[in-house]
Amino acid sequence: MVLPAHGGQPDRIITSLGVEAKGHVYDFSANINPVGPPAWLSEELPRLMNEAEHYPDPQYTAAYDALSEREMVAQKQLLLTNGGAEAIFLTAQLFQGKKALIIDPTFSEYERACRAFGIDVTHLRLDQDFQFPFEEMAQALSDVDVVFLCRPNNPTGTLLSITDVEYLLKIGMATGTAVVVDEAFVHFLLMEDSSVKRLLDFYSNLIILRSLTKIYAIPGLRAGYVIASENLIAKLQEKQPPWSVNGITAALLPALLSDKAYVIETKRWLGGEQKKLAKELSALGFFHTLSCTNFYLLKDEERPEDTDELFRFLVANNIIPRHTDNFTGLDGRFLRFAVRTMQENDYLLHVLKKWREKAC
Ligand SMILES: Cc1ncc(COP(=O)(O)O)c(C=O)c1O
Repeated sequence: MVLPAHGGQPDRIITSLGVEAKGHVYDFSANINPVGPPAWLSEELPRLMNEAEHYPDPQYTAAYDALSEREMVAQKQLLLTNGGAEAIFLTAQLFQGKKALIIDPTFSEYERACRAFGIDVTHLRLDQDFQFPFEEMAQALSDVDVVFLCRPNNPTGTLLSITDVEYLLKIGMATGTAVVVDEAFVHFLLMEDSSVKRLLDFYSNLIILRSLTKIYAIPGLRAGYVIASENLIAKLQEKQPPWSVNGITAALLPALLSDKAYVIETKRWLGGEQKKLAKELSALGFFHTLSCTNFYLLKDEERPEDTDELFRFLVANNIIPRHTDNFTGLDGRFLRFAVRTMQENDYLLHVLKKWREKAC
């Protein structure tokens, strides 16, 4: 059975399993904001047809103005990208032919980007409680040119603290190692001042990657950016293809970035659902990671060997989780779920209850 490498492909999962799903399918496999896209977007998009008819402004002036204002970072420290994915691949290209460190399980595209640019990858593992192996990491840094960190981490949803990132940055400054921090999901964090951005003034080896496709639910439009020192941004810019970001996305960015009400609404939804899910899943006897973002890992503590069967059961009940077969270190032993709307999460809890009752 060949399952897709990324979430958001429910039809392919259903076909691969040969399960007959009838009625509405609930896609928990893609960790996209279920609140969005912002309501005004559907009115705005037809008006932007003219942006499709000519090349985007090569300087992306309005988009950079808005991004710089929102991030409170100089424009020369920003690079607009075609999603977080382009930010990852451009960054990896900086280290072509060199050595990288990846801590598994994490987002699979770091490895793929490293392979694409002939980078030799050393792997370490999170421990059983999904904590980072700091001692081993500190040692490994002296042998590599770059380390890829994901915060919050996909697929665990857990968060490396800013203090811990600073500890690694300090070592990296001494060993000549760049620290890449992928903050694709940072916009979902409920606490204030949640980014490692404030360390930029002190550590020239810090490269922050961001995605806007998750929070604004626009994976088809694509939007992301890099925040780093002027020097690193200039190097990345040299490697970026022209007009990489499409004109429609660029034209939308100022309005997206200034829509504070949308982000407040997102956090209100997430805070409530996170709390409910944590309580109910534990009560049903399911292990789940203590996620601070919009997805979490789950395993049936009472039937830990039956994850494949649980996967099939959920799909047969129109719920599509994200398998973890291609997350090194998880190897299919967990399932990843997006935090969806209240109704969808309630349906998931209902089906998990059925699974539990079935086993009794
Ligand atoms: C951790 C992480 N970084 C980056 C990306 C890519 O984001 P984008 O859709 O903006 O390319 C993803 C997508 O799943 C992700 O999980």
